[in-house]
Amino acid sequence: MCGIVGYIGSRDAYPILIKGLKRLEYRGYDSAGVALINNDDLNVYKTKGKVADLESFCEAKNISGHVGIAHTRWATHGEPSSVNAHPHYSESKNLAIIHNGIIENYAEIKNNLIAKGVKFRSDTDTEVLVQLIEYVQVKKNLDTLTAVQVALHQVIGAYAIALLDKREPNQIIAARKQSPLVVGIGENEFFLGSDASPIIEFTDKVVYLEDGSIAVMRLGEELKVVNILNRELNPLVHTIDMNLGQIEKCGYPHFMLKEIFEQPECLKNCMRGRINADADQVTLSAVIDYKERLLAAKRIIIVACGTSWHAGLIGKQLIETFCRIPVDVEYASEFRYRNPVVTKDDLVIAMSQSGETADTLAAIELAKRSGALIYGICNAVGSSIPRATDTGSYIHVGPEIGVASTKAFTGQVIVLAMLSLALAKEKGTIDDQTYNAVVKELSLIPDKMKEVLEQNDKIADLSRIFTYAHNVIYLGRGYSYPVALEGALKLKEISYIHAEGYPAAEMKHGPIALVDSDMPVVVIATHNAMYEKVLSNIQEIKARKGRVIALVTKGDETISRIADEVIELPKTLECLEPLLATIPLQLLAYHIAVCKDKNVDQPRNLAKSVTVE
Ligand code: G6P
Repeated sequence: MCGIVGYIGSRDAYPILIKGLKRLEYRGYDSAGVALINNDDLNVYKTKGKVADLESFCEAKNISGHVGIAHTRWATHGEPSSVNAHPHYSESKNLAIIHNGIIENYAEIKNNLIAKGVKFRSDTDTEVLVQLIEYVQVKKNLDTLTAVQVALHQVIGAYAIALLDKREPNQIIAARKQSPLVVGIGENEFFLGSDASPIIEFTDKVVYLEDGSIAVMRLGEELKVVNILNRELNPLVHTIDMNLGQIEKCGYPHFMLKEIFEQPECLKNCMRGRINADADQVTLSAVIDYKERLLAAKRIIIVACGTSWHAGLIGKQLIETFCRIPVDVEYASEFRYRNPVVTKDDLVIAMSQSGETADTLAAIELAKRSGALIYGICNAVGSSIPRATDTGSYIHVGPEIGVASTKAFTGQVIVLAMLSLALAKEKGTIDDQTYNAVVKELSLIPDKMKEVLEQNDKIADLSRIFTYAHNVIYLGRGYSYPVALEGALKLKEISYIHAEGYPAAEMKHGPIALVDSDMPVVVIATHNAMYEKVLSNIQEIKARKGRVIALVTKGDETISRIADEVIELPKTLECLEPLLATIPLQLLAYHIAVCKDKNVDQPRNLAKSVTVE
């Protein structure tokens, strides 16, 4: 949440900062601001609204300067407003700060500072931090870096910050604790970002700042990284493998649609080098490297949030079916606070698209203390979760920018399928025929997905009838139950229509009371072991005049006769059906949101990377 950009070098900072903010807008978009050093001035411009509003606001302003920081906000403390937008000045206006995260003891610090006569302008925890830095700087006559170190010592919470001091105009100081920050290294210039997307246009050399480190970027000097006690740290320079096309819309009206359509290609990337369908083989390096500990695991706990949690529910079924190990799937936010039983014999799988979700990171830390092996399944390369885990597998689906997760979900399911197969083979819990059939079918999934995507126009037409709905129920059983949850989540996230996913058979224990002729019910009714049961559930809905939209296996005539609308899916193995059934539900949510004129890529109140708990 919240996007941070910084630039120091010989170019004009403003255009780089604005472009960077636009790339990071998925992280938060209720207000935006920029601070620029221009000769002896430190100018701060900020406004409520999106980055485009900031650009209009800055039209008549002096935006020159080669050193600057900028921010796009997802409000935590204080409503979205120009006053609460970042950057925040210190009282003297010598310092300006931007911040991502939460200062938990902000109230106590604020009260102390107020008692000492400091005057505040905003309701934010961020302003408390910059005022504290200034207070210690003045009181103890410190240089900026030392003042930052002293102030951060008093702070409890999570932060990624960037700070300018107009009396040290050739310098940006950035620090991180639990919230991500990346420094880009160019020729006599530095870039700063919450992730690498604002940087890759300019350089492929980056340093992912470690927790507890402070970066000092000075013109004409090498990057210096120290910790809070001023011990110098050795920054590790990585070369990033990301191109601009991956973070641009490439002709699609929205990132979400682009990301839905990219799935066949992304899943090929995810499987490349891991699935060899000719040799009937799945190879995951983590399973080779950690074979003994993985095989010794007596239980698996999957921790995740949001869409990643839904992928985890599918993983549970895959792993239990093939590996015969019990799997619990936990919301990371619940797990971290309920004193769970975790032992060194457990394997904890942490799933996260962004690799930055605060609750998932905290769940990892908790599990680590019990000695469990921690396996990460993440998308964002170099992010905090992969660095906090013992081992893991990237899903390699490329940057996901639409706030509603799509390709990361299917990527996670593919990795879980590969992991369950690789483990089952090692454990001897899967017969060769099943193993070979699943491996072969996995390699066919991208082409089958393309067939589903060809129905995009039909789904767009269908979506119009949904726009009237205030509530929608999604039903599925077995592997399709998490798909129903995910379909409902997609719809509520971007169209703001209330939607519930339910196991189809549970419907009669409550939700059926809601069914009437105004209630659309989306049923995943593919031809598998549960087919007859789901057919009965559809009959029950029709008997109450519900409007049924069914996802069926190609050629199904029975359900096609009963349902109001059908979407056909190519036949696949039951355990891989989620990979196909999810696609029409993503498209349905997308088109409904477009029909309702909602901001698909940046839905209200949400953020893509949830770095606060
Ligand atoms: C946010 C996003 C969701 C995502 C969830 C978990 O709520 O809007 O799309 O599923 O966080 O994020 P993660 O990056 O850990 O998968």
